[in-house]
Amino acid sequence: MMNYMSRVEIESMPRGGPDASCLDRLLETDRLEYLDRDDIDDAVKRRVIGALDWTGRVFGNHRRFAEIALAEVAEVADPAILELGAGHGAVSALLLENHPTARLTVTDLNAESVAAMAHLADDPRVSVRQMDATAIDAPDGAFDLALFALSFHHLAPPQAAQVFAEGTRVATKLVIIDLPRPPAPLHLMRLASMLPWAPVHPFVHDGVISSLRSYSPSALRALAAHADPNIQVTLRGGITSPQVVVAHRV
Ligand SMILES: C[S@@+](CC[C@H](N)C(=O)[O-])C[C@H]1O[C@@H](n2cnc3c(N)ncnc32)[C@H](O)[C@@H]1O
Repeated sequence: MMNYMSRVEIESMPRGGPDASCLDRLLETDRLEYLDRDDIDDAVKRRVIGALDWTGRVFGNHRRFAEIALAEVAEVADPAILELGAGHGAVSALLLENHPTARLTVTDLNAESVAAMAHLADDPRVSVRQMDATAIDAPDGAFDLALFALSFHHLAPPQAAQVFAEGTRVATKLVIIDLPRPPAPLHLMRLASMLPWAPVHPFVHDGVISSLRSYSPSALRALAAHADPNIQVTLRGGITSPQVVVAHRV
């Protein structure tokens, strides 16, 4: 069920949400990251994913994301967890390490990423598959939790709303963890500090675009409501730490 804002309204909704300021509306782009482009060599995409894995290890994001996910299934004995857009698979590896009976379905849209994560399926609790987070190939209620980390901003508003619909269809809880969208003046400063490095490293190039495509809390709420008014969301984090969205159907 898609409603609340019409299809046209959701397509043109600013990343800063329906109430975005004029300056905030300027700080967005339709330009795609290298990771999302068919014309970009796979070696470049592997560099971006490798850098993301490295920064996640060094700055503790992988560990933090695994803790956030496991806290949401603390009451479930042997949770079935779906990771969407897993990229390098490091968060799923930590979920396995930190939960002795969790069962994992580790997925990504990108076939090369799926191939690079195939080793995770050496563990009998894991399956690794190619999957589109906007059209999840699984029955209703198949999972206790679906996790989509640092990937939501890759999607334009109609597809992003579809992730809310699909994630809460196949899983009891959908956890989206993504870049914060700071207030516009702070956002400008963040972009200014990154821009000089964007032509030098593909990771920073994608980082600048990610920042411009990040969604604000009001945009996240509008997307969930558009997907289905029965989807309830709680939001936390943001500004300096990643935003965490926990969504479920009521
Ligand atoms: C920035 S990486 C995030 C990787 C990892 N989740 C992390 O936390 O570091 C974004 C990932 O989202 C994937 N992706 C983009 N669109 C997707 C979609 N529609 N469905 C599933 N994955 C998608 C990309 O292939 C890429 O691996």
